[in-house]
Amino acid sequence: MPYSGLITRYRDYLTHLPNNAIPVTLLEGNTPLIPAPRLSAELGCDVRLKFEGLNPTGSFKDRGMTVAMTAAVAEGATACICASTGNTAASAAAYAARAGLACYVLIPQGKVAAGKLAGAVAYGATVIQVQGSFDDALAMVREISQRRPIALVNSINPHRIEGQKTAAFELVDALGRAPDWLCLPVGNAGNITAYWRGFVEYHLAGKTSALPQLLGVQAEGAAPLVLGHAVEKPETVATAIRIGRPARGKEALQAVAESSGRILAVSDAEILEMQKRLAAEGVWCEPASAAGAAGLFREVKAGRLDVRGKTIVCVITGHGLKDPDAITARFPAPRAIPATMSALERLIAE
Ligand code: F0G
Repeated sequence: MPYSGLITRYRDYLTHLPNNAIPVTLLEGNTPLIPAPRLSAELGCDVRLKFEGLNPTGSFKDRGMTVAMTAAVAEGATACICASTGNTAASAAAYAARAGLACYVLIPQGKVAAGKLAGAVAYGATVIQVQGSFDDALAMVREISQRRPIALVNSINPHRIEGQKTAAFELVDALGRAPDWLCLPVGNAGNITAYWRGFVEYHLAGKTSALPQLLGVQAEGAAPLVLGHAVEKPETVATAIRIGRPARGKEALQAVAESSGRILAVSDAEILEMQKRLAAEGVWCEPASAAGAAGLFREVKAGRLDVRGKTIVCVITGHGLKDPDAITARFPAPRAIPATMSALERLIAE
């Protein structure tokens, strides 16, 4: 049967959706699990990359958005709203366009990567820059969605978590069991919460005998869950996870604890170094998406994590095209030569 989106594929597990709901879908999900041979050799384990950047709008957000938007339409919504560091905004904008809903997205001014902002605009959302942080914007959309009949599609919307848990199903379906470790970036903490729910549900359904250990990774300048308190002015090159008050922080910490996992923070330098390593495997991701693998790398190299012979999945949450400036701003512009064969010969002979 041709693939028709994750709602159809995992309908039996999406019990919150009204029976008569008609999927609003862009055929999201079904993303590849790509082996990373160089990282695997370096760390002495089997590292696989769940490349969520290959979803329709370039990030894992589409998984939650197909379910949230389907529910919103079934409930008769005509407009939706979210706060976002960028990816949720682009995803909400695309699915709202598909469903014919008005869409408002609030983003922290000047802190959203170019590809995400362009996406939200291209899909026709009303984009509003807030002179504040993501956390400020989230507080605003929470309140306006109470006051007015506008569907809130942030990951505090339970349908978002329901959709995102399907990534765990796909991993078990691909591997035949859960991986030993699942490494992923943590921002507002919805995704790690969703993965854990997915693994637990599949475990209860008898689809995997084991559960993975979770390695949740924040950026050092935006690490409220590691520090144990909110961060008023979060700062990191990984703008997607530049969040100081994660809405699902408690659940994330509980999931990590239940899995006998870890939550830790890596530096911007470690994130960018891992972005480069992943690109050397042929998988270019945005900076935040490298955080999970960066945390894994650091722990293994420091001798704090024994992964010999283990299967490790790193979730690559967003495509590199989302944030081209993260590359072009750090590297010199490509060399220019005259349009002559001799100039080309000289350069190649260097
Ligand atoms: N990776 C990317 C690329 C993201 O965009 C986000 C979150 C995360 C990781 C973290 O996921 O919030 O569920 O812990 N981006 C949100 C947004 C906040 O607005 O696009 P999380």
